[in-house]
Amino acid sequence: MINFRELASKYKTPLYIYDLDYMTKQYEELKEAFKGRKSLLAYAIKSNSNLSVINHFAGLGSGADCVSIGEVRRAFLAGIPSYKIIFSGVGKSDEEIREAIEKDILYINVESEAELGRVELIAKELGSVCRISVRVNPNIDPLTHPYISTGLHDNKFGVDIDTAKRMYICANNSEHLDPVGIHFHIGSQLTELKPIYESAEIVADMVRSLQNIKIELKFFDIGGGLGVTYKDEATIKPYDYAQAILGTLRGLDLTVICEPGRFLTANAGYFLTKVLYEKKNGAKRFVVIDGGMNDLLRPSLYKAYHKIEAITESKSSLSEADVVGPVCESGDFFAKDCLLPILEHNDLLVVHSAGAYGFGMGSNYNTRGRSAEVAIKGGAAKLIRRREEFEDLVALEKDFI
Ligand code: LLP
Repeated sequence: MINFRELASKYKTPLYIYDLDYMTKQYEELKEAFKGRKSLLAYAIKSNSNLSVINHFAGLGSGADCVSIGEVRRAFLAGIPSYKIIFSGVGKSDEEIREAIEKDILYINVESEAELGRVELIAKELGSVCRISVRVNPNIDPLTHPYISTGLHDNKFGVDIDTAKRMYICANNSEHLDPVGIHFHIGSQLTELKPIYESAEIVADMVRSLQNIKIELKFFDIGGGLGVTYKDEATIKPYDYAQAILGTLRGLDLTVICEPGRFLTANAGYFLTKVLYEKKNGAKRFVVIDGGMNDLLRPSLYKAYHKIEAITESKSSLSEADVVGPVCESGDFFAKDCLLPILEHNDLLVVHSAGAYGFGMGSNYNTRGRSAEVAIKGGAAKLIRRREEFEDLVALEKDFI
């Protein structure tokens, strides 16, 4: 049991708290599901990019899935070996591609023909050979929130099968490209197995058709996307997920790479806040807390549900309230019509499932410093990022006035 009162008094609020032991449990369960096959879990750093969190996964043997050179640098800093690092994303700059090639990472996931051309040119300039994989867009509806759906032709991600085939032929004929993998990632917070299975079938068939023209790949990268329970969603069991994927690889000797983010981190994280005020506008009740949408954007951006728990002595009956932050936007809310007792100044509210896409999507909007982050391992809490102070926020501007 996490002692939220103690953490609030020691580290102040708002505060992110991560249970590293829970992350280990999730990692081990997923890794175990792929046993009997060569596999690599490449933690999707974007879900929670604190160096201590990445370093924790490095210690478990994880690789890293990165979407910017900044994330690649984080992976290196946190101790992930180069041969376990993947670099994806639709818009890599020349500088990012150059650095990734120089750092000799496992492969660059290429998302367009134009990008393949840039990667080849830069590898040539460096006198190098770049390992690549192509991100295939299988045009399958992942049945998730439209903002986190990525596997339809309407989405900007990856390339269609015909384009992918042309890219493999081009890469195979190039002295500076080495096509080693194939990749798909159809969306996030997936709770249905069927679209994943159907995508894997399409991509596995593509691997077979490449074999027919003597292009042999080594890595079958299935992206991330495994959903978690925020409220009462039924989720996909890692074992069923792995079995469905492995079933599509009949006769293929490939290392499976999986890029989990949310599955590992979401329910390991809590966002701890303090009640500032209760207020009413007419009949409408609001609980105003000291954390805002700049700390946790998901409810505002996706209307995402996060369970809210009150830590209070209050014995009052429950009534509906909107839990809102101090930011000057009506969209600055954590929950609508949430059943809560009447709360006092300094009571605590814990926002659950905040370990994935929480801190990382934060900002300094309204000149609010980002929260501190604390990790708990074996019952012991440790500060892993200090709170941002006003001086931090103006440091890069002060010399210009
Ligand atoms: N691999 C690739 C190529 C990805 O684009 C992503 C997530 C992942 C792996 C990890 O997906 P996960 O296992 O975490 O579902 N901000 C949104 C989620 C955006 C996901 C972006 N890509 C949210 O708060 O729900």
